[in-house]
Amino acid sequence: MEFFNREKEIQDLLNMIRQEPNLITFIYGPINSGKTSLMLEVIKRLPREYVAFYIDLRGYAVTRREEFLKVLFETYDEETFRKKVYNILRGVENFHKAIPILKHIWKEFFKIEEVSDAFKHVENFLQELYNKGLKPIIIFDELQVIKDIRINNFLIYRLFNFFVRLSKVLHICHVFAITSDSTFIERIYNEAMLQGRSRYYLVDDFDKETVEKILKEKGFSDEEIDIVWRYFGGKPIYLVEAIQAKRVGKDVKELCEEFYRLRRRQVLDLLYKLEEENKNLFDRVTKFLKGFETRDKIKYKRISKELSWLINNNILFLDPANEIIKPQSHLELLAIRNILKEFKP
Ligand SMILES: Nc1ncnc2c1ncn2[C@@H]1O[C@H](COP(=O)(O)OP(=O)(O)OP(=O)(O)O)[C@@H](O)[C@H]1O
Ligand SMILES: [Mg+2]
Repeated sequence: MEFFNREKEIQDLLNMIRQEPNLITFIYGPINSGKTSLMLEVIKRLPREYVAFYIDLRGYAVTRREEFLKVLFETYDEETFRKKVYNILRGVENFHKAIPILKHIWKEFFKIEEVSDAFKHVENFLQELYNKGLKPIIIFDELQVIKDIRINNFLIYRLFNFFVRLSKVLHICHVFAITSDSTFIERIYNEAMLQGRSRYYLVDDFDKETVEKILKEKGFSDEEIDIVWRYFGGKPIYLVEAIQAKRVGKDVKELCEEFYRLRRRQVLDLLYKLEEENKNLFDRVTKFLKGFETRDKIKYKRISKELSWLINNNILFLDPANEIIKPQSHLELLAIRNILKEFKP
């Protein structure tokens, strides 16, 4: 699959990585804006001395400490472990989806009802790489998956402490955490223990100029570009769909409308259900949505019940750093505007 643009974002992130590790970087943005793809592209472009550990929590039902340890580590027997470490140190293998560990050590961690030893082990491992002249980077994708796990305290806070230690205290490892969960990023943004220790990097959908450039190169007419922008905005995943559709001779407008009808239906169903279950909240939600009748984003004040409902149902996206609330994509914006007419008394 071809990778579009993102030069600015790639350079921004590479610049952060070139500096000595200091802050934890939280990468956030609307759903499907291309956060994961971007990070993987950045990793591809890293010079040889960097070693990336990309830990993807998506797709795993990580609800307990044991499951977290399974995702965090990959176990090896003595011989394969030695080979693995040898290859890492030679700079041959510089992309990993877990921290390599000897099986018997991992089993010990598994028995103890704690995570401190496991974190200490990761720290020692990264420190060793650092001492050998390598530059480790650790990335947690879909970090919100573990937000509710408790081990004495919430695991997420233990992890934040650990991140602060790796970056700000020891300066041995860059730490990135990716999430598309707006309420989670809002919580993190206001988290006292992260003040002055973290930064927030927004990966948004493409802007109009970029969309025009991408689609022009793919042979889209001005009219087709207008339609795609109106329905899909700069959401990479939809642009990919539009390009593929055009390639096989499908009508672009038809595709846009198909997606729109589906999304409108989904949003409408959610609202009907809410109306049945909680009329008061429903009224608040529709009132809130009226803010989008003439605007495509509104200023964020606080997380009210209705806003929380709209965010949790993936209709709206909240950007705490820029204090903005907007629909997850143009499809939602169009759906909201259309549905509001339906609900007018
Ligand atoms: N720069 C890009 N060039 C081409 N396609 C892209 C690009 N960015 C994203 N995509 C496409 O959009 C899809 C979604 O992107 P990705 O999974 O990176 O988004 P995300 O922001 O991580 O999503 P989520 O919110 O679900 O975590 C990808 O599978 C890919 O097809
Ligand atoms: Mg992702």
